Amino acid sequence: MTLRNDHDVLIIGSGAAGLTAAIRLAETKRVLVLAKGEISGGSTSWAQGGIAAVLEPGDTFDSHIQDTMVAGAGLNRRETVEFVVENAPAEIDSLIKMGVPFNREADDDLHLTREGGHSHRRIVHVDDATGWAVQEALQRTAAANPNITMLPDMVAIDLISGRHVAGDKGEAGRIWGAYALNRVTGEVETVTARATILATGGAGRTYLFSTSPRGATGDGIAMAWRAGARISNMEFMQFHPTCLYNLEVKNFLITEAVRGEGGHLLIPAKEKGERGYRFMGDFDERMELAPRDVVARAIDHEIKRLGLDYVHLDISHQEPEFVKGHFPTIYAKLMGLGIDITREPIPVVPAQHYTCGGVLIDLNGRTDLKGLYAAGEVSESGLHGANRLASNSLLECFVFGGAAAQDILDSWNELDAPPNINPWDESRVTDSDEEVVVQHNWREIRRFMWDYVGIVRTTKRLERAQHRVELLQQEVDEYYGNFRVTMDLIELRNLIEVASLIVRSALTRTESRGLHYTSDYPERADRARDTVLVPRVRD
Ligand code: FAD
Ligand code: SIN
Repeated sequence: MTLRNDHDVLIIGSGAAGLTAAIRLAETKRVLVLAKGEISGGSTSWAQGGIAAVLEPGDTFDSHIQDTMVAGAGLNRRETVEFVVENAPAEIDSLIKMGVPFNREADDDLHLTREGGHSHRRIVHVDDATGWAVQEALQRTAAANPNITMLPDMVAIDLISGRHVAGDKGEAGRIWGAYALNRVTGEVETVTARATILATGGAGRTYLFSTSPRGATGDGIAMAWRAGARISNMEFMQFHPTCLYNLEVKNFLITEAVRGEGGHLLIPAKEKGERGYRFMGDFDERMELAPRDVVARAIDHEIKRLGLDYVHLDISHQEPEFVKGHFPTIYAKLMGLGIDITREPIPVVPAQHYTCGGVLIDLNGRTDLKGLYAAGEVSESGLHGANRLASNSLLECFVFGGAAAQDILDSWNELDAPPNINPWDESRVTDSDEEVVVQHNWREIRRFMWDYVGIVRTTKRLERAQHRVELLQQEVDEYYGNFRVTMDLIELRNLIEVASLIVRSALTRTESRGLHYTSDYPERADRARDTVLVPRVRD
């Protein structure tokens, strides 16, 4: 029974949020960073478009704030938006110092691209593979710091709270670390720390089609909820308008920057070689550069209306060198699939892309639970409101990873050392002989969430989803109580928890706002309110 108690701070998650926090803390604290697979396995590595920041004369903080709030449909918390937008230039500076090779113009100024909902060019990027460059730089910096230990293949299962304290029950609402499955040894380890940061990313894999990597199963949201933290705005699931439609490659994103650099959305032409109908003008005067909820709903509408499998995204009217120069990763990937994007359009469909809701935090990254912080996609900071503006999320990871770290350093004397914690109890479980149950339920959740809780919702479909969630929750709870944990089972338990939070939140919102669109309540209510779910237990 391994007890890991030799670090000051535990960070669950090794993407942009987790590693930013680790690097800031490691100036004085010993930090343990867990990842459930490879250290580079989160969404950060997959980010294409870039990072939004006001960096050009003529652009202003006010304008970035305004664009963020317009996309967020009145639900953003203004102080959070100001905090993030005003810190953006410093965060970009710090990434440059870490060695992120952002694209530059001939005069050495940063090259800024444009994305939907932004009224200026303000996206810094590294070609069309920004996330990979950022992840590499953060990992390199973290690896060089002796105060940081990064452990891959460690799956956090549950947070350690008052009820896990040995002997008398410990302080209610205090978090001391987490139990984690070591995938190499198969053992559940007890990992304790004075402070814990959740940086576990989003919950995209609740949906059948998603641009997120395999591990985006909402683990942090589910763990925080079970431990007693409030979760908010889970109905706001962002669907990216342009995921590649390909029967073999299921989750390859075609960056919004393709539209930013002039790409058109077309109804596929009847004859090969003819140009299709450019339909976005029928939906929004901003055409392809309308915010993504508008574009995704328009594509969904056209696909359903015309019975299409996909629509086309076409950038072939631009010079081939321009296309290859701006989108080398996409060009190479699609060439490998037989599509030459300099000559022909790309078949695209919307897919789940980003989780706007999450664990409720304040400006210091604090959750409701003492010693527990959250940063990045796992959290709901008030930045995105009802819809995230493109390229604001990596930025949120840097700003809140840093804010959480700073708050831990500032309040160190209030964070007492962990007491004795009971080890993980496996005395009543056996190895599963019915893996099929886990695999089946994974598929079932993702399918009904896609069909019933997707881009356009109705109360009836949401109620159907709720009924299925309840049945599956009983089944998974029973299974979880009887069998030894595996990564698939841990994730399944979290997926169903998160699906339940999404459906409950969506049923609560009797209006259409931002990413939540329901045909039963198509209008926006006069007053903007967050959906805040409050757990029954806090231990
Ligand atoms: P992630 O980078 O997702 O990292 C999560 C970490 O948590 C991983 O290390 C994972 O192993 C770990 N983890 C999860 N659960 C557990 C557990 N139970 N135990 C232990 N570890 C766990 N945003 C932008 O701003 N600009 C873009 O251009 C952009 N492009 C995108 C393109 C794609 C294809 C995708 C999917 C997203 C994109 N986004 C973009 C969104 C952005 O990438 C993410 O919001 C952001 O990277 C999230 O970072 P994070 O640190 O919160 O989590
Ligand atoms: C993209 O490159 O289109 C994704 C940008 C984002 O999700 O912010």
